[in-house]
Amino acid sequence: MGLQGMPNLLACLFSALLLAEVTMSAAASMEVKVSTTPIFPTITRAPTKDFQMLLRVEAPPASALKGRVSIDLVAVVDVAGDNNLAAVKKAMKFIIRQLNDTDRLAIVRPTNSLEEFKSSSIVLGGNRKSVEKKVDKLEARSDDPKGSLGDTLKMLGEEEESSLEGRARFIVLVTDVDSSGFNDITESFKYPVYTFGLGASHDARTLRLIAQKSQGTYSFLDDDHIDNISGALALCLGGVKSVAAVGTRVSLKPVIDSGVKIARIRSGGYSFIKAEDNTSGEITIGALYAGEVKTFVVHLEVPAAGVDPALEDVCCHQQKLLVASLDYSGIEAKIEDVLIVQRPWVTVLPKVPFSMVVNRIVQFKWLEIVDRFIEEEILAYTPAEIVEKNVGNKLLERWETFLFEHQFWVGLDLGSLEDEVTAVAKIVEKRLVEAHMFSWVSGYKTQRPTAMGSPEKVVVGFLTVEVRMTLQVAIMVSRGINDECDYGCVDPAPLELFTQGDNDTYYMNEEYKNIVSLKDINGMMTKIYKGVVKARGLKECRPAESQVINE
Ligand SMILES: *[C@@H]1O[C@H](CO)[C@@H](O)[C@H](O)[C@H]1NC(C)=O
Ligand SMILES: *[C@@H]1O[C@H](CO)[C@@H](O)[C@H](O)[C@H]1NC(C)=O
Ligand SMILES: *[C@@H]1O[C@H](CO)[C@@H](O)[C@H](O)[C@H]1NC(C)=O
Ligand SMILES: *[C@@H]1O[C@H](CO)[C@@H](O)[C@H](O)[C@H]1NC(C)=O
Repeated sequence: MGLQGMPNLLACLFSALLLAEVTMSAAASMEVKVSTTPIFPTITRAPTKDFQMLLRVEAPPASALKGRVSIDLVAVVDVAGDNNLAAVKKAMKFIIRQLNDTDRLAIVRPTNSLEEFKSSSIVLGGNRKSVEKKVDKLEARSDDPKGSLGDTLKMLGEEEESSLEGRARFIVLVTDVDSSGFNDITESFKYPVYTFGLGASHDARTLRLIAQKSQGTYSFLDDDHIDNISGALALCLGGVKSVAAVGTRVSLKPVIDSGVKIARIRSGGYSFIKAEDNTSGEITIGALYAGEVKTFVVHLEVPAAGVDPALEDVCCHQQKLLVASLDYSGIEAKIEDVLIVQRPWVTVLPKVPFSMVVNRIVQFKWLEIVDRFIEEEILAYTPAEIVEKNVGNKLLERWETFLFEHQFWVGLDLGSLEDEVTAVAKIVEKRLVEAHMFSWVSGYKTQRPTAMGSPEKVVVGFLTVEVRMTLQVAIMVSRGINDECDYGCVDPAPLELFTQGDNDTYYMNEEYKNIVSLKDINGMMTKIYKGVVKARGLKECRPAESQVINE
């Protein structure tokens, strides 16, 4: 490819968002990691009834994966509106292009016939055209459907894993209809279901429930953004096509003879089990996508430090409290981390908590408040009644009380939470207030991106590099420039970003105009700087400290 193609290639490769992330992920580790952080690094030797810790699981970025897990994606389409159907068809073609040749894809309407399902299920290798033809033939919901949504999900869940030939199954459900008749969701789901509601007519409550029970997510598009289904799907597609580990579980075990008990596990939307005597616990994460981070909070009961020095590291009165070990399919040796605290012989200690632990604890507390709010103020009423109530104001009241209660928490940084809560509370379209709230909660509970009305309305912190790239492609496709991104090979190095002028000035290469902004470049520099600081183990000066030095 000559220089002619370069600007296009640049536009395809770089999204302003991406630039800095890619630089960072190039240096990341290759393995899934688990780590534990105590809320306080040092505690007294007296017993502590409620000692909280942060548990963190981090998947390597896509660039570090040896190869990805092939997937078996089932898209269940239950759409009534013709316009919506046209948008769904475009989105299904987007999926077809995004998947790998070894992946399997089925696009079905609700059905209870395994035969029909099997005949629509196809391994993509070389078959894209024929699958696209099937998409063209996809019909709107008939008055006399062959099966209900419930039947379909049940049938899909009953399929044995062996029939998937090593692929990981994910189900995507796209619907604009009232899914009632499927309200008693009691069965457990074997595979995650990512639900997407279209427009104000979809049934947010049912979709929320399906997502919750299956450890999937709930997203929706408002009437103005139905055209953006590909973008919304990209949020989940970017994840499932970069699976780093399947069957991921973290087990927690107090160190033998430490007397530590696991009092409580806060895992959001991920299921967990805890032994009745509080001596072990396990969180089930399932599939972990490249670059994903999951954090959980565990409450421990820590007995008084003993007199037996054998249990302590002599040098610093360190005590090992708990072992967190990570397990997933195909793992060679379990990956572990040990929670360690210092317990010096003093009775009073300065209490300086780790902010990242405090922030997560507060987030979980807020999520629990929103959960209660959903029970009391939303699910207790019909959707029609909700439209009459000012649910947004009530939510804001609870948020303000919550803020007030936590105002003196040391190290607390709520980040984007305040803006997000306000945005959800101020939704104008009353019929979609509950959908916003459900989708927001679903994102936080799974720590995954969900579309709240449009693909742009998403909690940015949950976007992995892979998801951003997929989203970028979706945007390109929606602007009709997908073909230009179909390149076979690329030049080994990019064009130079800057060229030097006669004197000491630099000029930005014209080709990068509109692709990279000054802000992006500065942002990238900041990330590199922070990366170097971190790699060298340096500490950032706090403004307060530097003032002291200046005096
Ligand atoms: C498709 O997946 C297989 C198996 O994981 C991998 O070897 C291959 O490189 C992938 N191909 C593309 C185009 O991503
Ligand atoms: C949404 O759709 C509009 C119009 O089709 C398009 O301009 C925009 O880029 C799309 N956004 C995403 C995220 O797909
Ligand atoms: C286990 O933890 C729970 C919650 O803190 C507590 O109510 C219960 O008494 C504990 N059980 C044992 C055996 O320690
Ligand atoms: C620096 O070089 C540029 C172009 O090469 C020229 O336009 C500009 O006047 C020069 N500035 C100075 C201070 O010499």
